[in-house]
Amino acid sequence: MNHTMIIFGASGDLTSRKLIPALYELHRKQRLPAGTRIVGSSRTPFSHEAWRDRLADSTAEHLGQRFDRSVWDDFASSIYYHAGDVTQPDDVVSLGRFLDQLESQAPTTRVYYLSTAPRFYEPVIVNLGQAGMTCEDCAERRVVIEKPFGTDLASAHQLNDIVHRVFAESQIYRIDHYLGKETVSNLLVLRFANTIFEPIWNRNYVDHVQITAAEEVTIGHRAGFYETAGVLRDMFQNHLMQLFTLTAMECPARFHADAVRDEKVKVLRCVRPLEQDQIDRWTLRGQYRGYRDEPGVRPESRTATFGAITMHVDNWRWQGVPFYLRSGKAMSCRTTQIVIQFRPPPHMIFGNGTSDHHQANRLVLQIQPAEGIQLHFQSKVPDAGMQQQLVELDFNFRGRFARELPDAYQRLLLDAMLGDASLFARSDEVEASWRLIDPIQTVWDTSDDPPLATYEPGNWGPVDATSWMQRQGRQWFDTCPVLT
Ligand code: BG6
Repeated sequence: MNHTMIIFGASGDLTSRKLIPALYELHRKQRLPAGTRIVGSSRTPFSHEAWRDRLADSTAEHLGQRFDRSVWDDFASSIYYHAGDVTQPDDVVSLGRFLDQLESQAPTTRVYYLSTAPRFYEPVIVNLGQAGMTCEDCAERRVVIEKPFGTDLASAHQLNDIVHRVFAESQIYRIDHYLGKETVSNLLVLRFANTIFEPIWNRNYVDHVQITAAEEVTIGHRAGFYETAGVLRDMFQNHLMQLFTLTAMECPARFHADAVRDEKVKVLRCVRPLEQDQIDRWTLRGQYRGYRDEPGVRPESRTATFGAITMHVDNWRWQGVPFYLRSGKAMSCRTTQIVIQFRPPPHMIFGNGTSDHHQANRLVLQIQPAEGIQLHFQSKVPDAGMQQQLVELDFNFRGRFARELPDAYQRLLLDAMLGDASLFARSDEVEASWRLIDPIQTVWDTSDDPPLATYEPGNWGPVDATSWMQRQGRQWFDTCPVLT
């Protein structure tokens, strides 16, 4: 079986920055299935040659020394371009004819990749269906849908309805690039391929969990998107929720797309939804100073660029263990980390007999950068009586494995071509996540609760974040990547 990946929105930034470099790398490593072709489509007219040249330049720029001209030339011979407007049924029919010709030699699996602006998702899907370019519940026609998948529960539900009219759920691959990160997949391995973590991964031993995605960058030139999204839609509904579900879910029966996703949905359903009058207490929001001066941002904008949420999980494993999720732009440093903060020992035989949980064991899963894991535990300070100190045990991917950590898109594109949906979001998962975010977004949009705090760029969000956490009897782990 041959494979064709058809990229809609081919002249866009994502194609040149992420998709083509990832496909090139897969080709270089000889991972692409034999007989793979890539067909770009967007409104701008290009010949096959002109498009290949343009992609050669952008890929070379993106990959630097990893770009090899002879490997590229070999890869580029399987790249094609067909211009068309996805909102015009005739253009989609014409693309279909082109694909039929290209694929006439052998049966071919098609992966339609929607890398267009979200408003075009519906016309592409409808027109593919009408042009007879899909098939019901078959493995040979798949669709990959980029984020954002809806802007709230209602729009996500509506989009699911539209896609389901043309594709069965098993043919739909909703992208969240965090799921393609090696350290994110490693969460499953850490938890379920070892015996030592799982027995303590619960309310008996864990005090709380912190999931942080901090970015040093500001929104730059993305105001058009960011002004309507804000931090909740941009980072929480998708990436942070994915990190949360992988940390909190039960062990699936096996590593199979539906078994994994069943468990993720189950834990999302255990999260206590926040009532309107609780949002002031359990959430926090901020905007970095200077945001309103960014090009394209309204001078009176109330868009949050920082958010923090306390989530309570009502099940046997996690009852009473808060999960703190936070993310922000213009923060101290770039770090995505999951901190499992354990309880202090029940009885301290050293010192005054007490210990506080800031000094208790901690497992830091450093998702990026400097991917790895660090365990914090008490050690005796030499030659100082029984004095103790928190020390670290490090595992660093780069130190341990010679292989380069691939970009998330390599794994996701390959899985979509091979038909493995384990690392893609299912319809009920996306909707369950929106169901939790929607009430918060609504209160943030319509009230002053909690107040929108201004924070200085280069900090850990608003100063109130510290007292907010203290009121909950905890302290943020404000540490830039623990590993280097
Ligand atoms: C994207 C968001 O989905 O993820 C961006 O739209 C954000 O605002 C980016 O910067 C973060 O991704 P990563 O892989 O750099 O953590």
